[in-house]
Amino acid sequence: MTRAQSRAKKIGRVADAERMAKRRLPKAIFDGIASGAGQELTLRRNVEAFDEVQFWPRAAVLHPGYDLSTTVLGHKVSTPIMIAPTGSNRMFRREGEPALAKVAGELGAVYVTSCFTGYPIEEVMAHAKAPVFFDLYMVGGRSVIAAMLARAKQAGCHALVLTVDLAGTHGVERPGLQQGVPLGVNLATALQYAPQLITKLGWTLDFIRDGLQFDCPMWIKPDGRMASFGDVLLAFRSNAVCPTWDDLPWIRQHWDGPIVMKGILRTDDALRAANAGVDGIVVSNHGGRNVDGSPATLRVLPEIVDAVGNRLEVYFDGGIRRGTDVIKALALGAKAALIGRAYLYPFAAAGGAGVQRIYDIFHAHMLATLRSLGCPAVGELDRSYVTLPEKYQSPSASSTIPIKSVREDV
Ligand SMILES: Cc1cc2nc3c(=O)[nH]c(=O)nc-3n(C[C@H](O)[C@H](O)[C@H](O)COP(=O)(O)O)c2cc1C
Repeated sequence: MTRAQSRAKKIGRVADAERMAKRRLPKAIFDGIASGAGQELTLRRNVEAFDEVQFWPRAAVLHPGYDLSTTVLGHKVSTPIMIAPTGSNRMFRREGEPALAKVAGELGAVYVTSCFTGYPIEEVMAHAKAPVFFDLYMVGGRSVIAAMLARAKQAGCHALVLTVDLAGTHGVERPGLQQGVPLGVNLATALQYAPQLITKLGWTLDFIRDGLQFDCPMWIKPDGRMASFGDVLLAFRSNAVCPTWDDLPWIRQHWDGPIVMKGILRTDDALRAANAGVDGIVVSNHGGRNVDGSPATLRVLPEIVDAVGNRLEVYFDGGIRRGTDVIKALALGAKAALIGRAYLYPFAAAGGAGVQRIYDIFHAHMLATLRSLGCPAVGELDRSYVTLPEKYQSPSASSTIPIKSVREDV
């Protein structure tokens, strides 16, 4: 058994992995994963919302088997849990995104890789055995984006995910968080961060062995040089990274595959996406990392599902920390659920073995829950298996914004 595998065995739930990741990572990096915007109201709400939804089991029912498989954009996958896009995974562990693509392939799970991967997409795809979706932000101008899309397509990515919920950046107020991730790796930052680096020697040696890697290989600047994660952080601060409805026709000219919009919280936006011919949406508030004070994603999921019906596929993320949370999201109408921190902590703590471990735990919980509910398959979950608090029954938010096809807007 490798050291990573024996570490992974110590994980019994996401909270264990979170503790282990906290022990291994420098504070600036750990807080970069764990924190949410502002007071972290939305971050907390996302998690707490699952407590409000109760299971409503059918008694005296046994099925010959219980099936976790589903389809995502026509791809048959063995699990309804997708890996959410999260940037700079190579900074959490040097094996980074290729290791995640590999473990997702072994699990039969869709892997959504951020365009801010620490490895080139070609290297990520070389390890993929299950569908990989490419997540896009609008950085560096349209010629940079066109090149990124061409590489993602050429490398074999199966769908494009547009993250549409980061129109602004919001500060974190986490107590004790004095320093975020630095804009560059140099002697000055090494000295500034020395207290964190010395106390987290395992991570520091891993980072040194990786050649102090701080590049963002999918963002090639017009002069041919790779952007750094410092450039990425500056781009976020400039607030210009969010694709808009007006970008959609241009994006379509450069991407002829399926498109998913990630970061939808309103029924009118969901309908607008359907009218624009988008193939799927992710009901998401970026894990509480964009506007603090927005609702829990689970809270808005049912009304969005009701509004769009079968016009596009609806996926969900935000606050999932257990297999039972996945079952609740699917019962409320999500076709699949993405996990973020629930895989990042095990990955930071124990690499691919940690991710494998958390999937095994989630899968055991999901199978046990299906059995207890008397439901034979995740594809057959519906609202009859849960009870919702009164506030979920409120009428859908209506909008004064006229809902038109984006094609008519430009
Ligand atoms: C460290 C970190 C980096 C992230 N980077 C991205 C990203 O590059 N693109 C994106 O669409 N979402 C990003 N997200 C948001 C996740 O895709 C996802 O929406 C969120 O983590 C779900 O909430 P959860 O962590 O509670 O599961 C990031 C989240 C974290 C924690």
